[in-house]
Amino acid sequence: MLIGTLLLLSHQQTALAEPTECHNSFTTSPEGGQDQVFSTPFVSLGLEAPPQPLMPKHGWRTEQELEAVIHALAEDGAVLLEGVVDPSVALSLRTHFYDDLIRHPNMEEAIRELGAANNSEAFYVAERRVGGLRVRRNGARGRFDLKPFDRRDAGVLVQSLGLDSLFEPFLLPPPLRTLLASVVQAPTGWRVKNAGALTTFPHAHTGQWHRDIGDGLFGNESLDLSLPDYYFAALCPLDETTVEQGSELLLGSHTVLAGGLGEAISAGRVRRVIAAAKPGDVLFFSGKVVHRGMPNPTESTRSLVYTVYTAKWFEQGRDASREMYTG
Ligand SMILES: *[C@@H]1O[C@H](CO)[C@@H](O)[C@H](O)[C@H]1NC(C)=O
Ligand SMILES: *[C@@H]1O[C@H](CO)[C@@H](O)[C@H](O)[C@H]1NC(C)=O
Repeated sequence: MLIGTLLLLSHQQTALAEPTECHNSFTTSPEGGQDQVFSTPFVSLGLEAPPQPLMPKHGWRTEQELEAVIHALAEDGAVLLEGVVDPSVALSLRTHFYDDLIRHPNMEEAIRELGAANNSEAFYVAERRVGGLRVRRNGARGRFDLKPFDRRDAGVLVQSLGLDSLFEPFLLPPPLRTLLASVVQAPTGWRVKNAGALTTFPHAHTGQWHRDIGDGLFGNESLDLSLPDYYFAALCPLDETTVEQGSELLLGSHTVLAGGLGEAISAGRVRRVIAAAKPGDVLFFSGKVVHRGMPNPTESTRSLVYTVYTAKWFEQGRDASREMYTG
């Protein structure tokens, strides 16, 4: 993919040529709290581990299929849904995302500058605002988080490029309303928390293992994992991923303490899988599931868009009165 390659030509001479660093610690994302690194048996799950089995894809159109999906969500904490968004809609967003946004001069400058930040064990190491878009560099090099994208709170850059409209079909794809009604265990119902994109440049490193709930509500893992499910994410790839590059998940880890994961994996109670997906597929999972992004060994930039849904009581400062999608 041309754009990613061009961008990386300038990139590689600066940040991305830094020496590599191994991330084998378990890091929480800051979505639910501050960055925190703590040691776990993950040190024995090196980056050189053989490719993991692929996560099965689920249909969602019939009642039986939906039942199987809800069952898998309870057991594994995650499901990969096939063909949820029309691939041509995903292609249209992809084209404008790369051609208009990633190649926008202000974005290129921000990404180049952020690329110069050192590798770190922190989940995010640096950020810039570009026309109201929050651009954050992950601690693992080559990985960026961009948000917000929904018309609820997108900034002037995203709006002026029409990307908020193109994002619309990804905010609540058809089966997710049904799933959320079933899996968000809150009498208050759910709402969209935020919507963004993850972009991974050529030769990007593996992301850190984390749970999206971060430190949870109490900073006590045992207590936080025992809470009713209140946090889910949907990831929708704009580029096809393979077994080498998708997201790696620990199925069943939504109920297992980090310190017990090594043993649970050995015993087969937790399964390491790769979610390899096509544009139009949706990976939907609980914020309690441990996962990480695989490296990008290709010469092409890869991106996915995401939407986070939370129980309405999980308030993070987003104005509820202007919410477009709730249930
Ligand atoms: C990056 O790391 C180098 C070497 O450890 C250090 O000298 C430099 O100050 C760091 N830069 C930043 C921005 O932290
Ligand atoms: C964490 O929560 C568990 C379960 O509620 C409790 O047994 C434990 O004492 C708590 N740990 C701390 C350090 O508060």
